[in-house]
Amino acid sequence: MDYFKKKKIKNILNKEIDSYQDVIVLGWVKTKRVSKNIAFLELNDGSSVKNLQIVILSPEKFNLEDINRGASLRIKGYLEDVPNREQNIEMKAEEIDIIGPAPENYILQKKEHSFEFLREIAHLRPRTKTFSTVNRFRNKIAYAIHQYYQKRGFQYINAPIITASDAEGAGEMFKVTTLDLDNIEKDDNNITDYKADFFGEQTGLTVSGQLEAEVMATALGDVYTFGPTFRAENSNTSRHASEFWMIEPEMAFCNLEEMMDLIEDFIKYLFKYALEEAKEEMEFFDQNIEKGRKETLEKIINATFARITYTKAVNILKKADQSFEFPVKWGMDLQTEHERYLTENHFKKPVLVTDYPVGIKAFYMRLNDDNQTVAAVDCLVPEVGEIIGGSQREERYNVLKKRMEEENMNIEKYEWFLELREFGTVPHSGFGLGFERILMYISGIKNIRDIIPFPRTPGNAKF
Ligand code: 4AD
Ligand code: MG
Repeated sequence: MDYFKKKKIKNILNKEIDSYQDVIVLGWVKTKRVSKNIAFLELNDGSSVKNLQIVILSPEKFNLEDINRGASLRIKGYLEDVPNREQNIEMKAEEIDIIGPAPENYILQKKEHSFEFLREIAHLRPRTKTFSTVNRFRNKIAYAIHQYYQKRGFQYINAPIITASDAEGAGEMFKVTTLDLDNIEKDDNNITDYKADFFGEQTGLTVSGQLEAEVMATALGDVYTFGPTFRAENSNTSRHASEFWMIEPEMAFCNLEEMMDLIEDFIKYLFKYALEEAKEEMEFFDQNIEKGRKETLEKIINATFARITYTKAVNILKKADQSFEFPVKWGMDLQTEHERYLTENHFKKPVLVTDYPVGIKAFYMRLNDDNQTVAAVDCLVPEVGEIIGGSQREERYNVLKKRMEEENMNIEKYEWFLELREFGTVPHSGFGLGFERILMYISGIKNIRDIIPFPRTPGNAKF
């Protein structure tokens, strides 16, 4: 029954344990201090940013010379309360087994390493305080997201990863093929013959699970996806990854206004969850990543998000007391500099921008009565910019078909998507939240490469 004697350090420090005797801990050595009659080890097992202090009363009985920073150990002992100390419990070691020794040249020495350097050793960086905290935080917020939707009766669905549909119509799909790249068969017009390919047609990695989420929402009601998303977009910024995780709720019988209420409530829920249920991590970010992060989140929880139309946003930008690299005119796509001005300088809080020009948004968005704009919404936040993109969907068969034709889409290929509008169509809406973007915003971490364990960016797919 040794399995149940193994305890997580977090549970020991919180005294969530049934016995102080015969306790086993397993983890990695952070520090070692040896003197003649006593020795101390700090052990971490990844369950908490805090270490457990191990006290060795007869150092001569153990091979402490062989234990270095980074080594993995199994320690059996008993626990003792030590009042008036930061960590008011410690372990007295009775048995120490070295499971995996670490030589003295262990890369992660006690000094501070730069985030840039740590990216190059992504296989070891989860062992640092910062990145173990980031990963525990990711786990907690992922759980919070499921909890939020499950509590509200949304059903978790899985959209395919390999697909023949370009959901955003932006041509940013990574191709999936088993064709021999050194010897590709072409047809009479010198075009690749995908009939010979694995799926018999051109396929790629999904850029969004939305189209399939629409299928499921028009059968199950309220649904959400939470999965990996891929974009072969060659933008080397601190906010773009080629592989990122997206949460895509899709709601049947829901219009844009109603969805905006949900967006605001959802974002605030995640902030509250972080402050209340991820206290240790938020404290760490507040101290080490960005001072005042917690206070910023608290302020937003108590504020109302600004809601403006694209047209109003353009007017605000035209009157701005600063100049922009990209000139402001109706019809342009909002650039990062514009988005930042709106959310950081003008409103100083999250902003929901709606009703964008039809020409700059995806084919599935519902055409407004003005025939110029669509029922889109983007959520912009200070520092990170866009964290959410969504819309009410075009539920009218003829309007959607016309729009797809205007975009020169292959109608035959998307017949199934149109058929949703033919049989029992309903007004429906959905949005996509970038998981890494919201984590960056809550934690204050500035680069997307530091919030995902194994970042994929142009030129980098190591690990
Ligand atoms: O605005 P996007 O492209 O919207 C969609 O994909 C819709 N199909 C969503 C929907 O309505 N179901 O992407 C949604 C969000 C963005 O707001 C951003 O937070 C994130 O996904 N995102 C990225 N995050 C990291 N790296 C990238 N390259 C990203 N591209 C989009
Ligand atoms: Mg977008």
